[in-house]
Amino acid sequence: MIHVHELTKQYAGRTAVDRLSFDVEAGEIVGFLGPNGAGKSTTMRILSGYMPPTSGMALVDGHDVFRESLEVRRKVGYMPEMAPLYHDMRVKEYLHFRAELKGLRGRDLRHRTGEVMELCAVTDVRRRVIGNLSKGFKQRVALADALIHRPKLLILDEPTNGLDPTQIRGVRELLRSLREQHTILLSTHILHEVEQTCDRVIMIHEGKIQACDTPRNLTRSLRATSLVHVELQSATDVAKELEALPGVRKVMTSKTDKGWRAYALRVESQTDIRESVLDLATAKGWRIRELHRQLPTLEDVFVELAAADSGARPFG
Ligand SMILES: Nc1ncnc2c1ncn2[C@@H]1O[C@H](COP(=O)(O)OP(=O)(O)O)[C@@H](O)[C@H]1O
Ligand SMILES: [Mg+2]
Repeated sequence: MIHVHELTKQYAGRTAVDRLSFDVEAGEIVGFLGPNGAGKSTTMRILSGYMPPTSGMALVDGHDVFRESLEVRRKVGYMPEMAPLYHDMRVKEYLHFRAELKGLRGRDLRHRTGEVMELCAVTDVRRRVIGNLSKGFKQRVALADALIHRPKLLILDEPTNGLDPTQIRGVRELLRSLREQHTILLSTHILHEVEQTCDRVIMIHEGKIQACDTPRNLTRSLRATSLVHVELQSATDVAKELEALPGVRKVMTSKTDKGWRAYALRVESQTDIRESVLDLATAKGWRIRELHRQLPTLEDVFVELAAADSGARPFG
């Protein structure tokens, strides 16, 4: 659905996107992740046919984003970072206007407007002036706008930016429900968001791809460590004994309470030491009331990547 090859964008001599190459298959939800200024919005603007690249190539459903930008805009539902809503228009009126711009007419226009308003849960506010709506509703109107011409590909730039957790969950569920009919490329800086929603993640940093994989593989391939939490009852502090287990790098005693001691074990990511902890506890006669492993999150991957010297990238 998307084919990007050596895509580069320079603004006044400054390279915002630097020879980016990636593909997105039809039906995928791909998360575009990176710190502020990484080049996410620039890439998305190019892919939506709204800005030409400096060099390189980008195809959407086989169409060149620059030479066939009208065709590309028909295929793409683009929700820009700052959705340029017409603030003095009413929701339904605005969506009619947008649908008309995108070539819908007559019965189809009215029917489809009703449909996307339902889908994005803005039917109840259809007569309200956009400028008076909360941020969450505005985002949903912008999403309805992106969807209205039934695009194959949705490009959503920070769709949950500025929303509260309930609204974020609402958008997440909406995106999941859209995956059947659409391919989705979304950018966000909320890592949890990507973990929950996306099939694949493309991490970019300073205009270059740092990593591209499933969220699961990314967290697995991380060099960073995972944590194992143990809470046990023993006569004495057993930190030293836990530290002696293979794979354990460090043990932190987090609290003690009426003979119960809680430890956090920093462990090499690839090893699961929960069984060795249990075996040790059985052998020593400690009682255990909690034992769980906390795997590294995408956030850890992200921090590690951002911290890595450009010469020493953890991913090949
Ligand atoms: N219109 C523009 N003119 C000049 N520089 C820009 C423009 N838009 C973005 N940039 C610069 O390009 C880089 C990438 O920006 P952007 O694509 O917005 O990143 P992101 O969306 O990942 O935060 C940044 O350094 C930004 O300052
Ligand atoms: Mg941006």
